[in-house]
Amino acid sequence: RALNIAVLPGDGIGPEVTKEAIKVLQALADIDSTFTYETKEFHWNSDYYLKTGQMMPEDGLEQLKTFDSILFGAIGDNRVPDQISVWDLIMPIRKNFQQYVNFRPIKLLKGLEGPLKNNASIDFVIIRENGEGEYSNVGGMMFQGENREMSVQNTIMTRQGVTQIAEFAYKYVRDHSLDKVTNATKSNAIIHSMKFWDQVVEETAKKHSDISYERYYIDALAAYFVQRPEDFQVVLASNLFGDILSDLGSAIVGGLGLAPSGNINPSHEYPSMFEAVHGSAPDIAGRGIANPIAQIWSAALLLEHIGRKDLHDNILAAIEALLVERKILTPDLGGTATTVEVGDAIVEKLYK
Ligand code: NAI
Ligand code: MG
Repeated sequence: RALNIAVLPGDGIGPEVTKEAIKVLQALADIDSTFTYETKEFHWNSDYYLKTGQMMPEDGLEQLKTFDSILFGAIGDNRVPDQISVWDLIMPIRKNFQQYVNFRPIKLLKGLEGPLKNNASIDFVIIRENGEGEYSNVGGMMFQGENREMSVQNTIMTRQGVTQIAEFAYKYVRDHSLDKVTNATKSNAIIHSMKFWDQVVEETAKKHSDISYERYYIDALAAYFVQRPEDFQVVLASNLFGDILSDLGSAIVGGLGLAPSGNINPSHEYPSMFEAVHGSAPDIAGRGIANPIAQIWSAALLLEHIGRKDLHDNILAAIEALLVERKILTPDLGGTATTVEVGDAIVEKLYK
């Protein structure tokens, strides 16, 4: 059966880079007869919101549910508050489809120099809890009154939530023949929720005692990302810590134009969603100079998730072949090529 992908191009450069990602999927289908796919586009973006007052139709989630996977561009437009696009489109998809893993590869691709001086070989993944933790809507303003306001924001850590993300991290280690998990924590200062996080993570670690386990406080770990990034394989983090570490991670390997991500439902009961880490980049939208690599790599993660690691690896090899040549690059990487030229060049590498 053909792989059935819902495509949400979104706003700004979202549609520009998503078109290149689909071009790459089409090339794979042309080259490899065992791979077939279909796409359907959903234009649920800021224009849609301005027309209808909603980010997606009432039955939007029902429509998406029937697909194997979702390829998401980026959403955000200065005519619509960012809170609306995030909480009315991205969050409902993540939560309803139980995409409790936010998956971010941090890999310094061949042909690139990161900003770190030591030329370390950086290749690890951040596995971020994507459904609970610090990003909860439990809390509020209390004791209101003149100069007496108090704001409380609660963190939710459930045994089930922490266990499932920790188990995913260990499964990833096994599936990729790795041998270490690094837990990002702060249980010395956040003594209730982070302590419980550590307890549950360490129960999981004990079940996998053939795999090394280490634990660092988040502040120290942030420094180690810069000082010795080559030491990490799989970094397991809560929602907030994983969010921050992910942006730091993308910065040490070349920036937003290259950073892919997956919002994964490991059970495959619901579709998973793949998207570049960057936003809609209004400052360069419409000029055809956005780097499409982050979105093309996101499409590769989609293929890996549905069991085609071979196709994922082919895409990464094609991207690296292009970067090593240092000829056809978008301006964020110091080149003068367009979005379309980079997409075309990656397709050409796939054929080789
Ligand atoms: P941004 O990621 O859109 O842009 C930050 C900077 O990086 C800009 O200078 C931009 O030109 C550059 N950049 C981003 N992607 C690039 C690419 N592929 N190639 C070359 N340069 C690239 O972040 P910003 O400016 O904070 O947000 C813009 C809008 O995007 C906002 O409305 C924000 O809410 C939204 N956003 C949406 C996300 C999503 O859809 N998941 C994620 C992040 C931001
Ligand atoms: Mg972030």
